[in-house]
Amino acid sequence: MPVSTCVFDAYGTLFDVAAAARAASAEPGFEVLADIWPRLAADWRDKQLQYTWLRAVTGEHVDFWSVTQDGLDWAMEAGGLDDRELRERLLALYWELPAYAEVPAMLAAIKEQGRSTAILSNGSPDMLQAAVDSAGIAGMLDVVLSVEEVGVFKPSPQVYGLVEQHLGSTPAHTLFVSANGWDAACGQAFGFPTVWINRLGVPIDRLPERPAHVMADLTGVPDLAERL
Ligand code: LAC
Repeated sequence: MPVSTCVFDAYGTLFDVAAAARAASAEPGFEVLADIWPRLAADWRDKQLQYTWLRAVTGEHVDFWSVTQDGLDWAMEAGGLDDRELRERLLALYWELPAYAEVPAMLAAIKEQGRSTAILSNGSPDMLQAAVDSAGIAGMLDVVLSVEEVGVFKPSPQVYGLVEQHLGSTPAHTLFVSANGWDAACGQAFGFPTVWINRLGVPIDRLPERPAHVMADLTGVPDLAERL
């Protein structure tokens, strides 16, 4: 089935979410992070995602910026970090996360193939716009879709349905790309052919569906879109 549109998850897939803690650890005044930033980054990400799932289940939606702050507060307390300046710096860095190195060339190749490109993310529209602008990839994306339009986080099917609503691309013609295993699995269950980007070589999630394709990074996505 030909692919007309390639849709990307944002955080963890196009943008490196560990970069905020990594960058802060190298800045003067935040030496306390030198050895513990990987743990802080992992706790922050885990809690941020857990809060999205719990809020989707309970129906108590707040935007992604709120759960990002809540996740950081939990992670800092768990790490014994009580430092207002560090908190503000980490949050500021989250607005300018770098894209993974292969992202610009990968998106450009898909555009050259004549396919549409989109982001579909939990992120709030202002966060996503800032990340896209700071990574310099705005010109390679046809649309940036946020869950805020439906007021519930992934993996609600309402979120995945935004792609067809905005781009007219049916799930069967949409290649969905996510580095979050649960997102790839749930996108596959929704009806997209899906690629899971497994950068760390972790086990596949035990969920009702499995992503149709697995890659170590995003480099091969244009070729896959051409082959399908
Ligand atoms: C996103 C989360 C899953 O960008 O990272 O939607």
